[in-house]
Amino acid sequence: MKNTFYITTPIYYPSNKLTLGNSYTTILADCLARFFRMQGKDVFYLTGTDEHGQKIEKVAASENKTEMEYLNEIVADAKKLWQMLDISYDKFIRTTDEYHVKTVQKIFKKLYDLGEIYKSTYRGLYCTPCESFWTEEQLIDGKCPDCGRPVEPMEEEAYFFRLSKYQDKILDLYTKNPNFLRPTSRVNEMVNNFIKPGLKDLCVSRTSVKWGIPVDFDPKHTIYVWIDALPNYLTALGYLQSDDSNFKKFWPCDVHIVGKEIVRFHAIIWPAILMALNLPLPKQIYGHGWLLFGEGKLSKSKAVDKKEVIDPRVLVSRYGLDSVRLFLIKEIVFGQDGPYNQELFLNSYNTNLANEYGNLISRSCGIAQKYLGGILNPAGELEQTDLDFKAEILSKRKTVFEQMEDINPTGALNTIFEMFSKCNKYIDETAPWALFKQNNLTRINSVLTTLSEAIIITNTLLLPFLTDKPKTIYANWGLSEPIRLDDYANFGFLKTNTIVTKGENLYARLDVKKELEELTILASRA
Ligand code: MSP
Repeated sequence: MKNTFYITTPIYYPSNKLTLGNSYTTILADCLARFFRMQGKDVFYLTGTDEHGQKIEKVAASENKTEMEYLNEIVADAKKLWQMLDISYDKFIRTTDEYHVKTVQKIFKKLYDLGEIYKSTYRGLYCTPCESFWTEEQLIDGKCPDCGRPVEPMEEEAYFFRLSKYQDKILDLYTKNPNFLRPTSRVNEMVNNFIKPGLKDLCVSRTSVKWGIPVDFDPKHTIYVWIDALPNYLTALGYLQSDDSNFKKFWPCDVHIVGKEIVRFHAIIWPAILMALNLPLPKQIYGHGWLLFGEGKLSKSKAVDKKEVIDPRVLVSRYGLDSVRLFLIKEIVFGQDGPYNQELFLNSYNTNLANEYGNLISRSCGIAQKYLGGILNPAGELEQTDLDFKAEILSKRKTVFEQMEDINPTGALNTIFEMFSKCNKYIDETAPWALFKQNNLTRINSVLTTLSEAIIITNTLLLPFLTDKPKTIYANWGLSEPIRLDDYANFGFLKTNTIVTKGENLYARLDVKKELEELTILASRA
C-alpha cells in the first residue's frame, strides 16, 4: 500500500477577510488530512494564498498601501484563522514567495520552448477606467461587471497556451479514469458545457496587469492567473528546484479539493498543463458544493443583509470549534450544495453535540460513578446483546474507513454519530439502573466496560473531525490520548480497577431562541 498522501485546497484570493465559505474547503481537507495521518500515512497538506492580479493592485492602492503591505496583513489574518480552526497544513504557499515566482517563470519558459505556449494577439472587451478585459459573457447588461461603465473592443499582444490541442485527451482521461473527477455529476458538466462546445487556446499573459509574475524572457508581459496559480501544487513540493525531494515523494497529488466553480480550471486546464509538461496527472479532483443562502452562494454582502453571522471567528468564540467543524462536515453533504443559516447551525449543535455525543459521555461516566463508585472492572460473561453491540460497533468502524478512503467525510461522520447513537441505545437496553436494583454488580461492570470501550473506539475515529473537546475525554478513563486510529481499535483494552471520573460537561445545551436574538445583534455589528 502506498503510504504517502498529498492533499491540497485551492489557494485563496486574499482580497477580503476569509469567511465561513472559504473555511469550508479548508476544514473538509483538514479532516481528510488528519484522518489519513492518524491512519499512519505520510501526509502532505498544502494550502495558501493566490496573491497576484489587478484586484490586489487596486485594493492595496485604495487603502494607500503597497501590494505587499496589504497582502502581509491579510495573510497574517488568514493564518490566524486557520490556527483558530485547527487547520493542520504542512505548508502554506504564497504565490509571491520567491521560489514560486522563479519556478513559475521556468515552467512558462519550458512550455514556450516546447511550443505549448505561443505569442499572438488577445482580443477582448476593455474597460479603460478599470484597466480590465472582459468576455461577452462576463458583462452585466453589456457593461463592465465591476464599475458598470461601457466597454470597448481592444487588442493586445499576449501569450497563449495550446489548450485546444488537449480536447480529446481530456475526454479520454475522463472515460478511462472515471475517478479522476468526482462527484461524477461534475464530469457531464465539464463535457457538455466546456469540452464539447470546443476548447479554445488560453490567454496566459497580460501587458496591462502589472502586479503579477513577469515573463522573464519578455518582461512587458506578466503571467496571467492560471499558469501562476495552478502550478502552486508543484512549486510547493520543490518541482524544478534544487531540493525536489518532496516532489519526488508526493507527486502525483492524491486529491485536489476545490469548490465547484473552479472545477473547470482543475479538471480541464490543469491536466492539460501537466500533459504539456509531461508530468503524471493528479489522481483525483474533488469538486465540492457551496454553502448556500437561499438560492445563492453564501457571501458576505448577502449575509449582512440577512443579519446572518458568517464570520467563523464569531461562531468559534461563542460556540467552540467543534460546532463549526461539525456543521460544515456533517450537515453539508460533501459534493453537494447545502444551506447555512443560524437556526440550522444552532439546532445541529444541540442535536449532535449537546444531546447525542456530550450527553452520552456524561451519562456513561455518571453511571459508573453512581453504581460502581467510579471503579470499573471488566468482569463476567457477555450476553448476546453485548456481543451484537460489539459486532455492530466494529462493523461500522470498518465502514468509516471505507467512507474516508472514498473521500466521503460526511458519510463517515454520520456513521460515527450512528455509533454514538447505538451506544445510547445500548444503555437503554441494558438498563444499568435496573441491574443496580437487582444488586447485579457483575453485570453492571460487564455492560459498562463494553459501553466505555465502544465509546472510546468511536471517539478515536472522531478526532480528525472534531479537534477540540473529544480529545479530552480519554482522561475520564485514565487513558492517554491516541496518536493513531489503531490505538483503540478493538475491545479489551480497559484494565481492572479502571477509575472513571466525570470530566467537564462538554457542550452546554443552547437556548436557540435566545441565541438567535444574540446572533442577530452580532451580525448587525459585522
Ligand atoms: N484563487 C482561486 C483558486 C486558485 S487554485 C489554483 C480561488 N480562490 S477563492 O478564495 O475565491 O476560493 C477559495 C475556495 O473557497 C474555493 O474552493 C471556493 O469554492 C471556496 N468557497 C468560497 N465561498 C464558498 C461557499 N459559499 N461555499 C463553499 N465553498 C466556497 O478560487
